[in-house]
Amino acid sequence: MITGGKHMKIIAVMSPKGGIGKTTTSDSISYILGEEQKKGVLILEGDPQGDTSETFGCYEPEGIGMSELIENHVSNGGRFRTTDLIKPTAYSHIDIIPANGYLMETDTNLRMKNDNQIFRVHDALEEVKDAYDYCVCDCGRLFDMVVINMLMAAEFLIVPVKVGGFEVRAINNLSEQVEELQQINEKLRTKAVLTMRQKNKTSLDFEEWLKTESGFDVFVTPVRQSVIATRAAIAMKPLPEFSPRSIASQDYRNIVFELMKDMEA
Ligand SMILES: Nc1ncnc2c1ncn2[C@@H]1O[C@H](COP(=O)(O)OP(=O)(O)OP(=O)(O)O)[C@@H](O)[C@H]1O
Ligand SMILES: [Mg+2]
Repeated sequence: MITGGKHMKIIAVMSPKGGIGKTTTSDSISYILGEEQKKGVLILEGDPQGDTSETFGCYEPEGIGMSELIENHVSNGGRFRTTDLIKPTAYSHIDIIPANGYLMETDTNLRMKNDNQIFRVHDALEEVKDAYDYCVCDCGRLFDMVVINMLMAAEFLIVPVKVGGFEVRAINNLSEQVEELQQINEKLRTKAVLTMRQKNKTSLDFEEWLKTESGFDVFVTPVRQSVIATRAAIAMKPLPEFSPRSIASQDYRNIVFELMKDMEA
């Protein structure tokens, strides 16, 4: 584990839509922050599918990780410390708390608890807040208790958005949900990022709508559509490592610069 007098900034990548680039965004940002910018990064896997855990070489179908952090951490009378659950990755600046299918049970179990349903991730991360510069949470597509816990801990929510009619409705629903969350977590700031952007009129019109009418703050740089992103996903590698020069990797670099400026301001 990386140590030092840091002050960990927590970022969640979340959208209620599936397959729109949440994991690609989360993994690319983690990789660029850690391996290119040399920041200490802790990744939290918030999706029972475990795609991020797989990409960073730490997926174990029966292994411990996020379920234990949420259900069985010392801050809630359990037996695990956060440091017991952190796994090193092959990347020297990036560690991870992985997850697997048990995270679905964790959601169900949390719903049945009477005490501290939503601040469990927040409380568990206190233990490592001086050990990393950034914590990046890849959320699943459901607005479940695990994701709500991550959003209660986060100060920055990145919402990947893809061109399409249903996305407009999803964004409107999400902005209502975010407002409710902000009543509890006042420091949560939200910014959307357009993913898989094409050069046709539909895509450009949608980008214009997103930037001017959606009500969301939007990253200046959209992520361009690139078949290399699909190849990186098939190879199960972070996109900026798989292809440092691909257009989508370049876009993610600009997004990380903007993010660092926003968060370090
Ligand atoms: N900029 C891009 N250009 C082209 N394809 C992309 C781009 N970004 C992501 N993809 C591809 O789209 C697919 C879905 O991406 P990803 O897994 O990141 O989405 P997700 O929102 O995390 O999905 P899920 O809801 O299953 O968690 C993957 O095959 C990925 O490689
Ligand atoms: Mg995903």
